[in-house]
Amino acid sequence: MILVTGGAGFIGANFVLDWFAQGGAGAVVLDKLTYAGNRHSLRPLEGRPGFHFVQGDIADHALVGRLLVEHRPHAVLHFAAESHVDRSIHGPGEFIRTNLVGTFELLEAVRAHWSALPAAERGAFRFLHVSTDEVFGSLGEHDPAFHEATPYAPNSPYAASKAGSDHLVRAYHHTYGLPTVTTNCSNNYGPYQFPEKLIPLMILNALDGKPLPVYGDGQNVRDWLYVGDHCDAIRTVLARGRLGETYNVGGKNEVRNLDVVQSICALLDELRPRAAGRYAGQIAFVADRPGHDRRYAIDPRKIEAELGWRPRETFTTGLRRTVQWYLDSTEWVQRVRDGRYREWIETNYAGRAQ
Ligand code: NAD
Ligand code: DAU
Repeated sequence: MILVTGGAGFIGANFVLDWFAQGGAGAVVLDKLTYAGNRHSLRPLEGRPGFHFVQGDIADHALVGRLLVEHRPHAVLHFAAESHVDRSIHGPGEFIRTNLVGTFELLEAVRAHWSALPAAERGAFRFLHVSTDEVFGSLGEHDPAFHEATPYAPNSPYAASKAGSDHLVRAYHHTYGLPTVTTNCSNNYGPYQFPEKLIPLMILNALDGKPLPVYGDGQNVRDWLYVGDHCDAIRTVLARGRLGETYNVGGKNEVRNLDVVQSICALLDELRPRAAGRYAGQIAFVADRPGHDRRYAIDPRKIEAELGWRPRETFTTGLRRTVQWYLDSTEWVQRVRDGRYREWIETNYAGRAQ
């Protein structure tokens, strides 16, 4: 049995679906169901023995304590977070409340439970913190990729709140001996990603005949990893990661944003051609993101050498699968694009036209 926070979000839902698909016996999902949380993503698991969904906040110490006593998970996998950089620029408060204070409250509840466990259970217990490469800041074109010892230099309120949560997890291991492991992963993409992030936003805008808003000059670089490979890395670190360690996770797939968008357009030209013209004709350069990090790149040698993890998908194979999933999943797409989604699109893009 595992307790998964944020299991109705993009990566959390993929993780829980994979967990059961790979023979996992049980999982309790604790999710607040913010705009980014979607129970529909977990629909294949409804009614399945061993699957429990609880709507609630990671900052609710009493609730987390009750769930730990009731289900006795051997591990807590902490995905829950506010995760979108642009939203953190428009409203950082919720990022501090969930990512920093929420992680603190969660750690406190877990520490209280873990300290009281019998020795054998205490020894087997794990707290796995899912974090990001954005805590390391931004790279220049020729800088070496982020490794585990790269100094933290977060640039957005989102990245700063995640950096703070990483430091808390580190301190709980160092001070209290809580058996923690942390992963710092690069940009994920794949099924069930909320369409505020680059790849699903571009796919859906393209299909709707809307502009494809590329920030700045489109030359910012991200290191893309298919979400299934990230979930595999998390299972690997959970099973064999060394306590108190951090592991950088990435697919060595550095791509410029404009190239990502053009690849999506080319796939759509093939899989769902427009009546006339090509999707790339919808590309529109818009005002840049304030403080926009130029380049991220992950050096994954530690997880590869120590734990034998390797990604399965290349960006080419993973992007094709992703575009096909969005083409096939019209019901899921319809459900997430509610009034709150339309309000966000208006807030983020109205003032950007150039
Ligand atoms: P997401 O925004 O899709 O999902 C976050 C989930 O957390 C949602 O289901 C939401 O309802 C839930 N949540 C938010 N606040 C909560 C609270 N206070 N209590 C309980 N649940 C709450 O995010 P994601 O992209 O799936 O990211 C998951 C984790 O992975 C995050 O910690 C993020 O920082 C990290 N990460 C993401 C990426 C990426 O590219 N998406 C890459 C590296 C690391
Ligand atoms: O690196 C890991 C991080 O990747 C995670 O920690 C975050 O949770 C996740 O959201 C992601 O952050 P990014 O800011 O890199 O992802 P996003 O999809 O928002 O943007 C990717 C790039 O595309 C970034 O350089 C900004 C650009 N972009 C984004 C949007 C939404 C555009 O050019 N246009 C857009 O409309």
